[in-house]
Amino acid sequence: MSRVTLSRYLIEQTRSNNTPADLRFLIEVVARACKEISHHVSKGALGGVLGSMGTENVQGEVQKKLDVISNDILLEANEWGGHLAGMASEEMDNAYQIPGRYPKGAYLLVFDPLDGSSNIDVNVSVGTIFSVLRCPNEYLSQNETLNENAFLQPGTEQVAAGYAIYGPQTMLILTLGNGVKGFTLDRELGSFVLTHENICVPETTAEFAINMSNQRHWEAPVKRYVDELLAGETGPLQKNYNMRWIASMVADVHRILTRGGLFMYPRDAREPSKPGKLRLMYEANPMSFIIEQAGGASTNGYERILDIKPESLHQRVSVILGSKQEVERVTAYHKE
Ligand code: AHG
Ligand code: MN
Ligand code: MN
Repeated sequence: MSRVTLSRYLIEQTRSNNTPADLRFLIEVVARACKEISHHVSKGALGGVLGSMGTENVQGEVQKKLDVISNDILLEANEWGGHLAGMASEEMDNAYQIPGRYPKGAYLLVFDPLDGSSNIDVNVSVGTIFSVLRCPNEYLSQNETLNENAFLQPGTEQVAAGYAIYGPQTMLILTLGNGVKGFTLDRELGSFVLTHENICVPETTAEFAINMSNQRHWEAPVKRYVDELLAGETGPLQKNYNMRWIASMVADVHRILTRGGLFMYPRDAREPSKPGKLRLMYEANPMSFIIEQAGGASTNGYERILDIKPESLHQRVSVILGSKQEVERVTAYHKE
């Protein structure tokens, strides 16, 4: 049986689904960068890549060496190909301008270069999350600096999103807006091979993921819902629930795409000015696009995440995503 590599899948998409050739090229380049990141991640202490840089990113988080290495790999891989008008990353204060010596293209690439990096030193799965937008015409110009407002589009405008997970296997999960495909890196071949044809999130679940140590800071609807989950068979939901929290969004979302579940990082009272911990552009939007394309749902408790009009690049958001029934239940509690 011939194997379908990512390249072949993308070429077939170009033919059958009108996926533009430069979008295909963009995804290929991102996938190549992810292979390189996977290589660095897997070296660990042997490659001298563990530990911190001694610097902080714009959100005041300690940068790990691998956060910076991964960010640089993605920038270098994507800046020269002529398919992008600009890039934005969790690890950079401002949007990245395509250097003047390179041609510019019509797309914007947004990424979290290494998600879950606090786990890197303990050898737990981490990943790269990315999202692709079209650069609005009014911002397309060959000479001028790209205005950051070009990026501030709701998640519904994404033309592609995906993540690579660096776990026991390195996988690439991708949506072009017509379902979700999973590719596994074949290290001997050096290619991502299609292994998961049609990824679907089961509608119901008996598993949830939330950082319980923040319980005392949660808002009432989330407290109520988690109390009901914990009450199990004898509670109002009449079912026992199991809990998992990896603290790598890629790994938690990957589990949900594989066997269902509910993921929550709600807004809490620790930092009242911030509506959550996770970032809308780099984490919530791409993951919500993937989850919806797999038949799941994603809200901030009040509205669909993909409908939120971003106000700033590094905006935070409360996230509730996964199996539809459970997302709908906890979202309804917010509205009561
Ligand atoms: P990042 O490593 O990109 O900063 O993201 C970490 C995120 C996310 O991956 C995870 O779900 C969450 O932070 C875990 O947060 P807690 O440590 O508060 O549980
Ligand atoms: Mn992250
Ligand atoms: Mn990160």
